[in-house]
Amino acid sequence: MASAFKGTAFTLGSFSKNNFLSSADLNTDQILSLFELAKQLKRGNRRIDLGNRVLGLIFKKASTRTRVSFQVAMARLGGQTVDLNPQVTQLGRGELIKDTARVLSRYCDVLAIRTFSQEELEEYAEWSTIPVINALTDLEHPCQALADFLTIQEKFGKLEGINLSYIGDGNNVANSLMICGALLGVNVKICSPNGFEADPKMVEKAKSLSEFGAKISISNDPSIAVKEAQVIYTDVWASMGQEEEKLKRKEIFEKYKVNQKLICLADEEVIILHCLPAHRGEEITEEAIESKNSNVFEQAENRLHVQQALLAAQLGGL
Ligand code: CP
Ligand code: NVA
Repeated sequence: MASAFKGTAFTLGSFSKNNFLSSADLNTDQILSLFELAKQLKRGNRRIDLGNRVLGLIFKKASTRTRVSFQVAMARLGGQTVDLNPQVTQLGRGELIKDTARVLSRYCDVLAIRTFSQEELEEYAEWSTIPVINALTDLEHPCQALADFLTIQEKFGKLEGINLSYIGDGNNVANSLMICGALLGVNVKICSPNGFEADPKMVEKAKSLSEFGAKISISNDPSIAVKEAQVIYTDVWASMGQEEEKLKRKEIFEKYKVNQKLICLADEEVIILHCLPAHRGEEITEEAIESKNSNVFEQAENRLHVQQALLAAQLGGL
């Protein structure tokens, strides 16, 4: 099959197995190449048939977008998915990851895993002989960040020098935005309440990967953070696994709500992004998410196109 990319064969990351565990596993050129392929797939200018390859989905947390977009992406690539939820496999009864990963590697061609700890994901990757994809952990959500920056590129026609202000919890989504943004030359400001800032190690990692002069910064005042923002991004205040903190967080985060008042302080052309699911009235108002500035459904759609491109690249269909 002809390559979509000029020059040498397209391979991902520094890992021989093409794992995508962190936004840092791709370099700038690889991300931009994935975006070109994703746009071709989206326009219908490109068809890739992988010949009945199988993606295993191991999801320990709920999911609509990630699960369904991976399922549809595999179907469009001529492949299929198998649901390997811990409730229906021996994982739920304590079978070891190192055994599970070696067995599944003999049935499947790639695994997408949604779980709590990044270490658990890394353990799967260590024992698998097939590529492993991070479908969200407590530390990162790298597939989400790819769709986010593809959406921004489509909207503004460029990425370098764009100002993105993330208002809210310094969580998995914020971490992947910082890293992927740094690689793409996007200035990423993460603005959170005291004590809820992004993990300093992830901030340092993002800074160390900065390309094209991208500035990564942490702050606490949303009205200052959104000044000159072309993108305002938010996510839930309590992530999956933090349900018991929901009430406490609601009080602490009140000032960090994305509403019209905050949006008016940003660039006139500002777009609003949210990875979804949204809690209207909490991190974002109904008015803001339904406003003309909101691009959240384009963003959700791009999960499909960019993950289809990722799978094609990982499985050697290019
Ligand atoms: N944004 C996102 O990952 O959504 P799901 O939890 O529905 O997969
Ligand atoms: N930060 C959120 C993202 C959901 C897509 C969570 O981890 O629950």
